Amino acid sequence: MADQSPEQVLDTIGAEVRACTACRLHEKRTKAVPGEGAIKSGIMFIGEGPGFHEDQQGRPFVGQAGKLLEEMLAAVGLRREQVFITNVVKCRPPGNRDPQPDEIAACNAFLERQLTAIAPRIVVTLGRYSLARFFPGAKISAVHGEPKFADGRAYVPFYHPAAGLRTPAIKQMLFEDIQKLPEIAKQLKELHEQGYFEQKQAETAEAAVSDEAAAADEPASDQLSLF
Ligand code: URA
Repeated sequence: MADQSPEQVLDTIGAEVRACTACRLHEKRTKAVPGEGAIKSGIMFIGEGPGFHEDQQGRPFVGQAGKLLEEMLAAVGLRREQVFITNVVKCRPPGNRDPQPDEIAACNAFLERQLTAIAPRIVVTLGRYSLARFFPGAKISAVHGEPKFADGRAYVPFYHPAAGLRTPAIKQMLFEDIQKLPEIAKQLKELHEQGYFEQKQAETAEAAVSDEAAAADEPASDQLSLF
């Protein structure tokens, strides 16, 4: 409904996720994990999918990887309640296997609606599947910590905290990357003030119009001469 608050929209999405049977992941779940946290902080962390503890509790990042995520947040003065945390798939893939393409596709509308309701300024991707969703074809070793400014937002890819638990060098990179968020937020604010996103949008619209004109049967100049 158009007049619902973001909180109400997220509650509705949460209820739909808990009742969802759109893919096979619902069959073995204990609890679905829609996501949780602050709506207005403007920062959203998107992981891959619930693991064992998340499936038990119905909450994202509550196991060891979640503890590391909380330590990373604390390093920049944030608590988990101050950001929104969710996943690409909302139900645990059995045995923590990788989510399959049809499962990711079945869950995608929930993530899209969460993004629309929360309208985050910064989206941090955690891990491979979240990276692939926002940075198709990118390699985490090449792009981690580097923001992509698009749609009025900064998308920032991070390694998955679980990788940080296994590999000390990755843990260090996670702490270095999260320290970049305040500067990235500042850059984003400057880009908004400079009208960067409006200009990008205008360029995209212009390119679409000239593509359309080029594809039309009549040359564009003839069409314009009608006016
Ligand atoms: N790993 C994820 O990607 N998400 C969680 O919620 C927990 C672990």
